Amino acid sequence: MHNISRSVVKKDHAPKMEGRSVYVCDIDKHGILCGKMLRSKYARAKLLSVKVPELPDGYFYVDKNDVPGDNNVNIVMDDTPVYARETVEYIGEPIGMVCGPDEAVCEDILSRIEVEYEELEPMLDLRKADEVFFNYEYEKGDIDKAFAEADKVYTEEFETGYQDQTYLETQGMMAEPEEDGRMFVHGSMQCAYYVHGAVMRALNCGPADVHVHQDVTGGGFGGKEAFPSILGCQVAVAAKKCGKPVRCVFDRREDLEFTSKRHPSLCTYKVAVKDGKVTAMDIDVKFNGGAYTTLSAVVLQRGIICADGVYNIENLHVHGRALKTNTTPCGAYRGFGAPQTFFAVEMMMDHIAKDLGVDTLEFKEAHMVKQGDATSTSGKYHFPVPLPAMIDEVNNACGLRAKHKEYAKPQTGRYRKGIGFSMHFHGAGFTGSGERDIIKAVARLHKYKDGTVEILASNGEIGQGLRTTFPKIVAHELNIPLEKVFYDHPDTSRVPDSGPTVASRSLMTVGELLRRAAIKLRTEWEEGKDQIVEERFVEPDFMIPFYLDKFRGDAYPTYAWGAQAIEVEVDTHTGITKILGAYASFDVGTPMDYNIVMGQMEGGFLQGIGYASTEFMNYDNKGRIRNNSFSDYLIPTAVDVPVLNCQLHVEEYPFGPYGAKGAGELPLVGAAPAYVEAIEQALGGDFRLHHAPFTAEDTIKILAKEEA
Ligand code: MTE
Ligand code: MOS
Repeated sequence: MHNISRSVVKKDHAPKMEGRSVYVCDIDKHGILCGKMLRSKYARAKLLSVKVPELPDGYFYVDKNDVPGDNNVNIVMDDTPVYARETVEYIGEPIGMVCGPDEAVCEDILSRIEVEYEELEPMLDLRKADEVFFNYEYEKGDIDKAFAEADKVYTEEFETGYQDQTYLETQGMMAEPEEDGRMFVHGSMQCAYYVHGAVMRALNCGPADVHVHQDVTGGGFGGKEAFPSILGCQVAVAAKKCGKPVRCVFDRREDLEFTSKRHPSLCTYKVAVKDGKVTAMDIDVKFNGGAYTTLSAVVLQRGIICADGVYNIENLHVHGRALKTNTTPCGAYRGFGAPQTFFAVEMMMDHIAKDLGVDTLEFKEAHMVKQGDATSTSGKYHFPVPLPAMIDEVNNACGLRAKHKEYAKPQTGRYRKGIGFSMHFHGAGFTGSGERDIIKAVARLHKYKDGTVEILASNGEIGQGLRTTFPKIVAHELNIPLEKVFYDHPDTSRVPDSGPTVASRSLMTVGELLRRAAIKLRTEWEEGKDQIVEERFVEPDFMIPFYLDKFRGDAYPTYAWGAQAIEVEVDTHTGITKILGAYASFDVGTPMDYNIVMGQMEGGFLQGIGYASTEFMNYDNKGRIRNNSFSDYLIPTAVDVPVLNCQLHVEEYPFGPYGAKGAGELPLVGAAPAYVEAIEQALGGDFRLHHAPFTAEDTIKILAKEEA
């Protein structure tokens, strides 16, 4: 293993473990007003009037009329309002905010506000939704010919549900008018510069009039990519009106019901098979975007790019749409569109193999891509594809091949076993040319006279370890002790824009900028002098240019790879599935710190297992999310952690720091198909499962069919 992988104590370990870290809800400062959201009661309605009772001294009501700038939150497209316009589009949409010193008084005012609505018919069904937010299509090869020549054509539909990020710290933001007239916005977030851009626009002011600081953040998992821009604008507008600091922190119920989550999906796969091999796939992908577009464009792009999985499919047609429904807007969650399509393609491959009477793993192996092959978008897998070795590693860990054959035999009795296997990749960094054309990352190192070095970048520590791994890279390259290098939470008034903390890009892309900056600093180092060095992103020259209008070219420079097996035992009396073991081999390049990366792998894999098994969330016929507490929305707890065996398979990426690739999201992506295939095998018979999560209730329904 590379020297740099040797684990250290995380820089933020002690303050977090000792409870000294100050999160936005902990800030104790005189004069903070509490903000409480007035939310829509209906999924779709015209707002006729809002009658606010007489407010006691020091209390305020804030809404769209108070937005000094544009009532549009700057995300990807302009449709998310800061505060609701003439209509409300989902239950819980913020209409206004009551602010004041006492929370209970704010609650009381809120309960006395009368909102007059004209109810409209909401669209709640993804199958019937007709308002298309985004519509993408691409193809390669000759799909018509392949279908015409096929021996057999398979068509199946797959469905996945919501998944909520359930970070430990709920969403929370605060805005403080400063004496010099600037607005200071801070809180729990992944992307300080996104919030900065959004608040500038809402307040109609220049870049120097706002600064944004990330407070200690208790997890994001994608949920704090765009959402803090919305909440940041809401509190900034409120602080502007009140002339005082305003803080809004959600309780868990609000967070579960009204903040962005993973897009539910509906995928239809039509697959041509000739001489026992898949020759073509015609794929239709639908994502439930919710009421506003937020991040649906980019989530959908990634989803459709992975729609043919790790397989070399010469003839391919993919059509993807993100559709509007009158529900909470969906957004980013670790994996970013990929878990949905990988679920579908992996299950599809399993089902075809079964129908052909061949082993599912062997069938998949016969179709796997290798280095040099074309990607779905006619780019290239430029670097090694280590899947064959990774299959061996998983097999050695759990006896996959033998068990997979053994459990395929008919089983009787109360307890039945199955083992499922899946493979996937995660394209490292932004899709397409976003890094080059939009982000244009800049990072700096500031060496002080005493020889300590500060990292100046805008990426946020959200539990993935950046406050430790960034300094490790710099200390390593400068050959100075780790204690001499530090990385604070970013404040946009002090750090350049090195881009957002998303797409598993920070460590790989910004980490490499920092490594290069450290090399520069080393060569220019002068004892006792204050020095600043800077590096800018340059795209590696091997890339095949990506055209988003045609979905053609290298969507990603490189890929992290995953292979995983999940072994289960199903209790046919209760429907409850026990996980006997979850085994994986993950290639994320060189680990920047073994323990941190292992934590990422195990944590992500477990989130994927939650997505596959118990994390069911849905809305009722009025459009209200029903699973709004941890007793209704079941995430794996400490007692649910199965035997988790994750191995790291290292293929170094020459353009990442010391060979590192994007790591954070990968381990979640492939868990669901492995889990559901395992249940399918345990249940045996002719059952074909088509959705995730697959809960105990779902198992009971299948068993009831078997009995009937
Ligand atoms: N790990 C922890 N502990 N907490 C998080 O919020 N977010 C994930 C992943 N791992 C997350 C995490 C997501 S969604 C992303 S995109 C990546 O970390 C970010 O990795 P990066 O810092 O390399 O960009
Ligand atoms: Mo991660 S879903 O890209 O924040």
